Amino acid sequence: MASAHRIDPGEFEVLSRQWHPVARCDAIDDGPVGVVMLGRPVVVFRSGGRACAASDRCPHRGSPLSMGSYDDDDCLVCPYHGLRYGADGRCVAFPSRPDARLPSRLSLETLHTRERHGLVWACAAEPTRDDPPDWGFYDRPDVQTFQIGPVHWDVSASRVAENFNDVAHFSTIHRVTFGPSDRPVGPQKVIATERGFTSNVAVYQQYRNTLDGSVEEIEADYRYDFTFPFSSMLTITYPDGEIECIQLTALPESATSSLVFQQSARTNLGGDPVEPWRDFQAAVNEEDRVICEALRPRQVSFRLDDTGEVALPTDAFSIAYRRLWKSLS
Ligand code: FES
Ligand SMILES: [Fe+2]
Repeated sequence: MASAHRIDPGEFEVLSRQWHPVARCDAIDDGPVGVVMLGRPVVVFRSGGRACAASDRCPHRGSPLSMGSYDDDDCLVCPYHGLRYGADGRCVAFPSRPDARLPSRLSLETLHTRERHGLVWACAAEPTRDDPPDWGFYDRPDVQTFQIGPVHWDVSASRVAENFNDVAHFSTIHRVTFGPSDRPVGPQKVIATERGFTSNVAVYQQYRNTLDGSVEEIEADYRYDFTFPFSSMLTITYPDGEIECIQLTALPESATSSLVFQQSARTNLGGDPVEPWRDFQAAVNEEDRVICEALRPRQVSFRLDDTGEVALPTDAFSIAYRRLWKSLS
């Protein structure tokens, strides 16, 4: 019997050719990091200045390389018997027997990798596109930024993506942090783009980026740019002209669990410090995580005929998203 956590073969086929976030760039500077991508353990490491990703298993005796370290030559060191691996995954040295012939089978299965906008992205098979999502706002010289996570969510990456693009839960789930009182939600027209969807919606919300700020209610412009399969960028323009850009993406670990990466950039007209803003955003994400992990089932069915869910007029994004998935898988 198929495991409930195994990704549907059709979805796996689609996802194996997409870019997925695997680490923050700064997380692999001092040593490797282990993640699970599409059910498979992956080690993310830096060698020769490059971000690399490979199967997290030493071909000698199966040790997880994510428990290893870097040597002075910038190689990945297996924690068990010390085999050294380079950026291309080839074993280049065995210090315990420097003269030993190293079999060519001592090679790691490598993944395609890119570094972009503060994150390392990996793709298991031949990528359908050359580049991960375009989140250039994050790299602007005139913005403040922060990264939080990654945080493990016990729910599918598709549920994470749908939740981030859903504006109808603000007044309930985010009632405490920023949600408005009881105003109706404005219309959200979702338009297909080359890489996903875009939409604009006016949102009434409390104007505060800290947990102890004012609770004045304002109308903000929310622009969503979604890159298939799980990457969302929300650009919020406030009435005073301040622009805040929230970027959220998820690594699909299994059919029902994800590793969620979030980062933000803002123009910061008021000159406020980053920390309260970051803590506020982390609190908002926690509100989302708790409700998403409680959803049943913990994954979206893209077969559409057996979801057992009833769509509402405020579900414009998830309706378009599920249709797109159905056309692909
Ligand atoms: S298991 Fe990696 S060197 Fe032995
Ligand atoms: Fe939310």
